[in-house]
Amino acid sequence: MATCIRETKGFPMIEGELFPEKQLGQVFKCDAFDGIRKIDSKTIDLCILDPNYQDWDTLINKGIIELVMDKVKDDGNILAFSRQPFDYQVSTKIRPFHRRTFIWSFTNGGAWVSKRLPLVSFQTIFWFSKSKNSFIDVRTGLSYANKTKATKRKSKIFGGWKSEGKNFSPSGEGTWLRDHYHFNKPNTGEVPSKLYELSKIFVKCFCPEGGTLLDPFAGSGIFCKTAQEIGRKFIGFERDEKFFVKNEVILWQP
Ligand SMILES: C[S@@+](CC[C@H](N)C(=O)[O-])C[C@H]1O[C@@H](n2cnc3c(N)ncnc32)[C@H](O)[C@@H]1O
Repeated sequence: MATCIRETKGFPMIEGELFPEKQLGQVFKCDAFDGIRKIDSKTIDLCILDPNYQDWDTLINKGIIELVMDKVKDDGNILAFSRQPFDYQVSTKIRPFHRRTFIWSFTNGGAWVSKRLPLVSFQTIFWFSKSKNSFIDVRTGLSYANKTKATKRKSKIFGGWKSEGKNFSPSGEGTWLRDHYHFNKPNTGEVPSKLYELSKIFVKCFCPEGGTLLDPFAGSGIFCKTAQEIGRKFIGFERDEKFFVKNEVILWQP
């Protein structure tokens, strides 16, 4: 089926079907729902859901979880980003498919959800999948970089597991996937972005080499950029021109 291109406010939009194999490696300017619906079922290895957190309730009511579950392969993964108090809806919705929750804490850039409530200085990242046989590579393969050293309980990154009698051998080339990361937020000016190191850990651990990442709320495009860098395919969507034009990955080109 041919893809029909339409110019909207100076940006190309797509009508008709997307063909992931042909159109991978790009971030499209469009609404997440419109974009996701055009993706074939069971073609995605890792879906990143990182919307504006106050929208979670609406997105869930509009069926975002069912929609992405359909696009993800049977052994694929979904990572949903949120923070208090918006994470309640996500955790409730995904309960039957929930695998683990990750915490990303930071000492800069905390959010005041209300003046009468505590400052929120961590984000929750929910991992869920259709099957417990989903792809996972617990070694990130990241170098023991300075930022990784800042991770709490750092002594356990390499050697701690074995000395505690756990049946893991230390990783010479990288760190183990863990459930708590402490990285400060990047200072990326106008475009709020997830941290590169964090994106690399998650893409490496939850998307196999050569696999396909879907990022329907792409923002700065950091997950797509990371996927491209480490040999994964990607497709992204972003509706806001401001973020779209500043996106560092390949944008849709006629
Ligand atoms: C939390 S930010 C994503 C940050 C991104 N992961 C990064 O690290 O740069 C959420 C993004 O989703 C976009 N967005 C929100 N609702 C959307 C929708 N319905 N369709 C497409 N993009 C949407 C917003 O414009 C914003 O850029």
